[in-house]
Amino acid sequence: YGPAQVLVASNRGPVSYGVREDGSLHAKRGGGGLVSGLSAIGPDAGALWVCSALGDGDREAVRRGVGESGVRMLDIPAGVHADAYNGIANSVLWFVHHMLYQTPLEPVFDAGFRRQWAAYEAYNRSFARALAQEAAEGAAVLVQDYHLTLVPGMLRELRPDLRIGHFSHTPWAPPEYFRMLPEDVAGQVLRGMLGADRLGFLTHRWADAFTACCEAFAGGLGGTRVGVHGLGADADFLRRRSREADVEERMAALRAEIGEGRKAIVRVDRTELSKNIVRGLLAYRQLLDDRPEWRERVVHVAFAYPSRQDLAVYRDYTAEVRRVADEINERYGTPGWTPVVLHVKDDFARSLAAYRLADVALVNPIRDGMNLVAKEVPVVSDEGCALVLSREAGAYEELGEDAVGVNPYDITGTARALHEALSMRPGERADRAKRLAAAATALPPARWFLDQLNALREQPTA
Ligand code: G6P
Repeated sequence: YGPAQVLVASNRGPVSYGVREDGSLHAKRGGGGLVSGLSAIGPDAGALWVCSALGDGDREAVRRGVGESGVRMLDIPAGVHADAYNGIANSVLWFVHHMLYQTPLEPVFDAGFRRQWAAYEAYNRSFARALAQEAAEGAAVLVQDYHLTLVPGMLRELRPDLRIGHFSHTPWAPPEYFRMLPEDVAGQVLRGMLGADRLGFLTHRWADAFTACCEAFAGGLGGTRVGVHGLGADADFLRRRSREADVEERMAALRAEIGEGRKAIVRVDRTELSKNIVRGLLAYRQLLDDRPEWRERVVHVAFAYPSRQDLAVYRDYTAEVRRVADEINERYGTPGWTPVVLHVKDDFARSLAAYRLADVALVNPIRDGMNLVAKEVPVVSDEGCALVLSREAGAYEELGEDAVGVNPYDITGTARALHEALSMRPGERADRAKRLAAAATALPPARWFLDQLNALREQPTA
């Protein structure tokens, strides 16, 4: 058996490689809850992160034997990975859990789907085999997300000695929606997950939906325990990072784009269908129609960063976001005022700059596992921003009381909520932001990770 005592498995790993013009490789480190969570157990803990090689640079790194200690990238054949990741994980499972299917985007479970499903199985098996190889006797393995639902069951067969956990960063679909998957596929997903000793979800709502699916389609949970771990924002990191010089520089640039004395409605998302960016823009347009007094006095700062561009629906959605933003600017803009400032190039320092300047944060997903932007903005904003938050975001369970709640489909209602948030008295806004920040940071990534690890290790084996 391998030497690793704690293993994390996820499709996207903590590092990726780009190829320079001269052929050399450069590493880019990612952020996120899992990265800072894992760092909490320290470099000597015998931890290993198993992930996919995602781009050409990653594949080249694997071939050249370049890598960081503590990370193992799997060079899964590109076609298999594409079918598993784009085809099954991001087009089927992501859509099911976020309940995104609608005419004409209904699923088609035909021979092409079956081929992709076989690739998803093969891809999951590659992870299970690598983990089985690398894990020390009795080690703890924490498998992440909808890409890897079959891994716990496969790994359990290969290595019954391991403690296996799985964590879902997405919502879970209720049985009446989940049942749209072919029965055998639905059964494989649930049984795959139930191969774990413990399953983690971000909110009670998603944990309950999973349990209901198991009761309906898999004869219950068996010996598997289900826990809720609501990942919070990393306050220390965010407060420190958002005071650095590059963020200050971008604040100055952004202030110039917004214009003196105007309020800023800020959103920062991947350009992702479930994030509901277009309806957010339409709500802003309705605000300008219904409340002309806001014209010239407010700017919608919308950062929509590229995501999953291999998928046509995402490319179309990206184009739609641009089109609607341009339309609003053409219709309402004046020589001194650009109503929507849209940026599409990923820039973390600029995101933090926007957080600091935000008067209102708009977070209106159709459905979201948690949504960390909703938790990060109140922590970072200089003046304490108001939060307009979808009731369908997992974060609403924790932040609902001090946010202005919206139905993400209701554009008129969202326009009203924006008005209410913009009009909030400074004292009330600051008080609410303080409570939002406290709730948002209740479970920092390090504790989120250690809680799961400890629960997994302490749980009696079934
Ligand atoms: C969500 C998922 C993650 C995923 C991220 C970015 O947060 O839960 O597993 O890594 O989106 O998506 P991508 O497809 O770019 O990895």
